[in-house]
Amino acid sequence: MTKYKVTITNRDNVEYEVDAKRPILDELRNQGVDLPYGCKYGGCITCAAKLTSGDVDQKRQVALNNWQLDNGYVILCVARAKSDITLEIGTESHYKLYRNPFLEPLKSYQLKADIASKEDI
Ligand code: FES
Repeated sequence: MTKYKVTITNRDNVEYEVDAKRPILDELRNQGVDLPYGCKYGGCITCAAKLTSGDVDQKRQVALNNWQLDNGYVILCVARAKSDITLEIGTESHYKLYRNPFLEPLKSYQLKADIASKEDI
């Protein structure tokens, strides 16, 4: 069983070990980390966190658009660690998750992958 270290930088750099085959949300909650969640299938964005280093597999998520992915967001209920990682969790990590769509409209390449186009690049 492969284990990786998760460091939560906005919680005094506390460290946890997670199983690479299990969702990070479940692994952290099982170790007492209080994290918000809703659907648990990658669709509602409630469990989003900011990945600041390392790599995850989150191919099952459908909540994030390319702009959010480019800003480092991960969906903890479906993401599995692929290396040691560092995360910012909680609503204070959401400073680049949401934006005012009237002030900062997305370019077409920043939309969700299945509808994004390259024409604005
Ligand atoms: S709990 Fe809904 S996307 Fe993770």
